[in-house]
Amino acid sequence: MKAARAWAPVNVALVKYWGKQRLDENLPATGSLSLTLTELGTSTEVVFDPALDGDSLVLDGRPAPDAARQRVSAVLELVRQASGMGWFARVESRNTVPTASGLASSASAFAALVLAAWQASGARRDLSRLAELARRGSGSAPRSLLGGFVELQPPGSAGDGGWLRQLAPAEHWPLRLVVAVLAAGSKRPGSTEGMERSRLTSPYYQDWLATHPADMSRARQAVARRDLQQLGEVMESSCLKMHALTISSRPPFLYWRPATVAVLHQVWEWRRGGLPVFFTMDAGPHVKVLCNAGDARRVAEGLSQVPGVERVLVERPGAGARVVS
Ligand code: PMV
Repeated sequence: MKAARAWAPVNVALVKYWGKQRLDENLPATGSLSLTLTELGTSTEVVFDPALDGDSLVLDGRPAPDAARQRVSAVLELVRQASGMGWFARVESRNTVPTASGLASSASAFAALVLAAWQASGARRDLSRLAELARRGSGSAPRSLLGGFVELQPPGSAGDGGWLRQLAPAEHWPLRLVVAVLAAGSKRPGSTEGMERSRLTSPYYQDWLATHPADMSRARQAVARRDLQQLGEVMESSCLKMHALTISSRPPFLYWRPATVAVLHQVWEWRRGGLPVFFTMDAGPHVKVLCNAGDARRVAEGLSQVPGVERVLVERPGAGARVVS
């Protein structure tokens, strides 16, 4: 048997990707820029065992639904092809928050999976190889391999093989991301289905692609200068453009709940009062609010008063995925 365990943190996109250039290879249509967090994440153990006749997956202590097991098995198959490992694997994975909360992420799950599987296979560590394998599981997963502020560019867009790079380590900028957790609404449609629907039917999809590179360069510049106002503005704009694609798709879909909107109004009200706070949201109802470390307590207390907010977590920039044993 060959075993390894890895931990990978959740990352949150400050400039989003939404849409694939190639569905078969799960290749994002645009780049993205993210912040890797500290506490939220996934711990995964992979055991390759010659006695197994298929891959198995235990998630948060229970046998996983078949669809999840198949998705994991497809990525393990790629790991086997790339590393020369010939055995099936037993995979046990645990999120720091229950998978059903809607906060557990496929990014941390696939980053932890490929890192553990690659380590267990005994192959030599290679970041671009790991990034490519993680991307096959989830388009945002490569970003969780690195810490702090991370940029991911797909192949083609930059005239080369694409890249994953750290723009700045976690220590560069002690920001906080205050997460307002709403009553878990179902994440329908899932991101892959939603992205395809937007690509095929939203009249704004081409504008999204056309305006994306400028968002990336403004965000890159803001990170380098530690300019919260500039980063926050571009982050909100990228997020709202992405969600505008969902409501302009046919048929439309919307990840927001009434409390999502209440949080957005609260954030804007704070800003009108001079507090530098900015929001972002992904394919779900929860809202993540970016602020300076010194304002995090006030923001967390305020958000916990908003009706419909169930829980508030304060996250900070953190290190990337690592092998634990
Ligand atoms: O990692 P995926 O393919 O499930 O998509 C993630 C999509 C967003 O979280 C909405 C945006 C992003 O860049 O993370």
